[in-house]
Amino acid sequence: MDKRLKQTLLRVARFYDRRKVGDVGALGFRRSSDLALLVGCLEGLLQEHLILPQKSRFLDLGCADGRVNMLFSYVVQTSVGVELDSWTLDEYAPLRAALEHELEKADLIPPPQNIHLFEGNSTDPLVHQEIAHHTGLVFEDFSLFYTYLIMHEEFAAMIAERAAKGALFLVYGLDRIMPRYEGLRLREDLSPLNGILGVYQKR
Ligand SMILES: C[S@@+](CC[C@H](N)C(=O)[O-])C[C@H]1O[C@@H](n2cnc3c(N)ncnc32)[C@H](O)[C@@H]1O
Repeated sequence: MDKRLKQTLLRVARFYDRRKVGDVGALGFRRSSDLALLVGCLEGLLQEHLILPQKSRFLDLGCADGRVNMLFSYVVQTSVGVELDSWTLDEYAPLRAALEHELEKADLIPPPQNIHLFEGNSTDPLVHQEIAHHTGLVFEDFSLFYTYLIMHEEFAAMIAERAAKGALFLVYGLDRIMPRYEGLRLREDLSPLNGILGVYQKR
């Protein structure tokens, strides 16, 4: 990974990791991924050619304020997120504006324009129609699916049924116990990537 890109990703991670949600208190259901850990995961996935730079398409199936979308947007072609709660999604724009300001001051790479976030349920076909309408991408066009351990069994079934062969399901928040999902192969050679990310591949 190029040095300026790495510096930018680490700065993006620091920005969001200072603003984690749900680690304590009532917002536990929308806990935030640790982006510093995910930078290491991104490097691993790039090394394994499981992310094709500026070609892969990423979908976070419960994206909250879009922070994981922001991180992946630097290395993929299109970064899409779906979030149930509109008030959570509303945090994306002000955070992005503050991040842009911070990156500009540090002379780092500004956030790409390839992020598209949608309100709704990730399992709802109407949401996927809306995604297709706005981005031209149908479910089968995504090669990277992400969840922070919410509805992972339902999402795994959806990916096993509808994703393209070889697509990855990235499950954040795993430790030593790795769930198994029918139709998906656990990449035991990689998981848990950086001690936190289960990597599953559609057979
Ligand atoms: C644990 S948070 C993770 C947020 C973000 N992906 C991250 O890793 O920092 C999960 C989010 O998924 C949302 N969510 C739960 N079920 C969902 C569903 N079926 N479709 C879309 N969003 C969902 C919740 O509202 C919450 O904001």
